[in-house]
Amino acid sequence: MTDFPVPRDYRTQGRHGMFPELTHDECERFNYLAAVNLHLARVVAPSVREAYRARGEPAFRAGHGRAPANRHEAQAVLAEDPQFQTWTALRRANMEQRQQAGRWVALRQADELAARASAFTNGDARLVLDPALAVPDYLTEAHHHCMPGSFFEEGFAGDVTNGANYDAGFFVTIGGADDPWLTANGEGLVKTLAAYDPDFAPRTVLDLGATIGHATIAVARAYPQAQVTAVDLGAPVLRYGLARALSMQVNTIRFVQADATNLAHIADESVDLVYSIILLHETSEEAMRQVLRESHRVLRPGGIAVHVDICRHSDAVAPLDQALRDWDGPYNNEPFWTRFRDIDLAAEMVEAGFDAQEIFHAAPMHNSRIMKVEDIRIGRGPIPPDASATPAKHLIGARKQARAA
Ligand SMILES: C[S@@+](CC[C@H](N)C(=O)[O-])C[C@H]1O[C@@H](n2cnc3c(N)ncnc32)[C@H](O)[C@@H]1O
Repeated sequence: MTDFPVPRDYRTQGRHGMFPELTHDECERFNYLAAVNLHLARVVAPSVREAYRARGEPAFRAGHGRAPANRHEAQAVLAEDPQFQTWTALRRANMEQRQQAGRWVALRQADELAARASAFTNGDARLVLDPALAVPDYLTEAHHHCMPGSFFEEGFAGDVTNGANYDAGFFVTIGGADDPWLTANGEGLVKTLAAYDPDFAPRTVLDLGATIGHATIAVARAYPQAQVTAVDLGAPVLRYGLARALSMQVNTIRFVQADATNLAHIADESVDLVYSIILLHETSEEAMRQVLRESHRVLRPGGIAVHVDICRHSDAVAPLDQALRDWDGPYNNEPFWTRFRDIDLAAEMVEAGFDAQEIFHAAPMHNSRIMKVEDIRIGRGPIPPDASATPAKHLIGARKQARAA
């Protein structure tokens, strides 16, 4: 009999002062969707691999006299296979349903949530919005991971709906993994920095593409002496983020609406730690380069830049695995995902101004909640390929050196 993996109950999700009200049926809908997501990942995905090996690859061999040589050929084989098609349809439907379920929860109490956010943040100088800020085409043209309205659209003044949807439904996206406060990435980043330099104690911190501050809260708690700025393009996520942080008694974060490709309001060499978590793959090639340049510009000499994102493709990973890792590009509204996996971030950071000998990495970053500082492998130079069966995130960083006089 196949094991049916069961996620933890939705009701164990961390509750704070901004968390939407949920009925019994809404909690159970999230439980069901998280269970389906987990089942698709643990039970159905292996059968897609089996089908590829049992019939897709042999058919390709019969026609070409060799196995698929790269992910494009592997993708073409997968696209013809009914097992892959079924898995894809179910995965896509699961994401669409997760978005609609979260959106419904947030929309039906949109006014109450906006009023609650306003009660926390009204007149608070830690919320800095810029209604004139232009949203880049890469965000308007495709709403990432099927999230209606993306992170920036708002239906009325003070709207926080998209922040509430993102927060309430993230449980499904992670398949109910053990991360009730959704702080795992931030905690992983802090632990990695502690392993890299135990004496590092930043006083100014910049989180680029912070969304509602899931990770920012972990970083702010780790560095209580620091003034932390969470930057994002979306007003609804920033309003929700500040209200959420204050309701969790985290008072040191400013939430600022700005474009990470143009941080003109932040002085040169004024920041000790600048980081992003799963921002870069949701930008564009040009925007990514500009974010890296801005990260270098705002850093003080001695300061550290760190970016955490999906791992790069490499020949060490079989074409089938590469093709499966690309799934979100064509099927989950992630237009830059596939191209991003070809990019050498270490080389890009050097191009942005960092010294090649300062590049460090921690990879792969699996399960950062249980990651112990002593287990973290800090490496120097380019990230080694991640050939593990479960694709992980990579962290890449560099310390900025003082300019030669
Ligand atoms: C996947 S989310 C990041 C999640 C977040 N870092 C976390 O750890 O929970 C990507 C975020 O990047 C933001 N974003 C995309 N391009 C941006 C830009 N040029 N400047 C600022 N924020 C940007 C989006 O609005 C979105 O909130």
